Amino acid sequence: MYQINENYQKLPGSYLFSTIAKKVNAFTQANPDKNIIRLGIGDVTQPIAPAIIEALHKAVDEMADPATFHGYAPDLGYDFLRNAIVKNDYQARGCAIEADEIFVSDGAKSDSGNIQELFGPDIRIAVCDPVYPVYVDSNVMAGRTGTYNPDTQMWSNVIYMPCTRENNFVPEFPKETPDVIYLCLPNNPTGTTITKAQLQEWVDYANKEGALIIYDGAYEAYISEADVAHTIYECEGAQTCAIEIKSFSKNAGFTGVRLGYTVVPKDLKCNGVSLHDMWARRHGTKFNGAPYIVQRAGEAVYSEAGKAQLKEQVAYYMKNASVIKTGLKEAGFEVFGGVNAPYIWLKTPEQMTSWDFFDYLLENANVVGTPGSGFGPSGEGYFRLTAFGTYENSVAALERIKAL
Ligand code: MLT
Repeated sequence: MYQINENYQKLPGSYLFSTIAKKVNAFTQANPDKNIIRLGIGDVTQPIAPAIIEALHKAVDEMADPATFHGYAPDLGYDFLRNAIVKNDYQARGCAIEADEIFVSDGAKSDSGNIQELFGPDIRIAVCDPVYPVYVDSNVMAGRTGTYNPDTQMWSNVIYMPCTRENNFVPEFPKETPDVIYLCLPNNPTGTTITKAQLQEWVDYANKEGALIIYDGAYEAYISEADVAHTIYECEGAQTCAIEIKSFSKNAGFTGVRLGYTVVPKDLKCNGVSLHDMWARRHGTKFNGAPYIVQRAGEAVYSEAGKAQLKEQVAYYMKNASVIKTGLKEAGFEVFGGVNAPYIWLKTPEQMTSWDFFDYLLENANVVGTPGSGFGPSGEGYFRLTAFGTYENSVAALERIKAL
């Protein structure tokens, strides 16, 4: 008789966005006449930029010709894409990352979930609270998080770093020393971020304590303030303590195209063992490379036309962020984020729980958002709206909310 991985049984409920989708589907079935505005999951709504579509078409045509056909991609990524990433995302910012430190993948979500395979079963992770659920859930599946307390909504072997309005959403160094620290900056879900000087303190802390930082930079393209780092490798010493995960979903609209990459510097060693070599070994065994046509699309993200078009797309979403933020403030809400990230984080009114507010908004304004408590216990009493909707829907949603 086979046995299952019992750790899966420990996971409370389903994945946050699946739960929301189920609730919204039930509401739509019961109220087919209602026009729902979805500002829940951070899924993009604008079409892929023309320069990228052109590259995709060209790559598809190449696949039709025996002379230019491509089979398996190199498992770590095509050089044309790794070189474009390094030149634009790192060397242009003065970071000494090299092309062979870039591991191209099918997206940041997979990498965020898979990266924990590199660590021992007894390590202790630290996460911001609230947090993108993938970091914790993937460690639960690996049996690393201890037991779950439904009252506190906390795992016994996870170190939580509360990020609330009381500390300006800036995580503080935990009392107990973690082995691996997950940081997502600019932050999902709070839409807030920290300065480069504050990030440098985390890098110094990790190097001092012998900890590793998993740095999720999925929302980097939305940074608007000058004192915010665009990559953790802008901080001195990051190459000996940090892995960076990047996505093409949010900066280039690839949520349905799927492309991401992870940087594992060669200087990153644990007791003399190279994490770069381990990740290369894992990639080689478990991954056959992102599709050629998608990697060509990724390359076009860095073309002059691609960069100009994506700058406009980011500005479009940030205009939505501003509409949502301003509208909420006018309606009397306490609002955070939305300046360096496409998420707006609000305090629920009248002591409502996050899920009560979710139901209230769905039923009375037919607007879908994400309950803050779904991201962790310190998210209770908060709520997230995404700026990734259309402009028209963002305006309409705010009109409905203001009218409540
Ligand atoms: C979110 O809404 O938090 C994100 O879209 C989820 C993701 O990127 O996987």
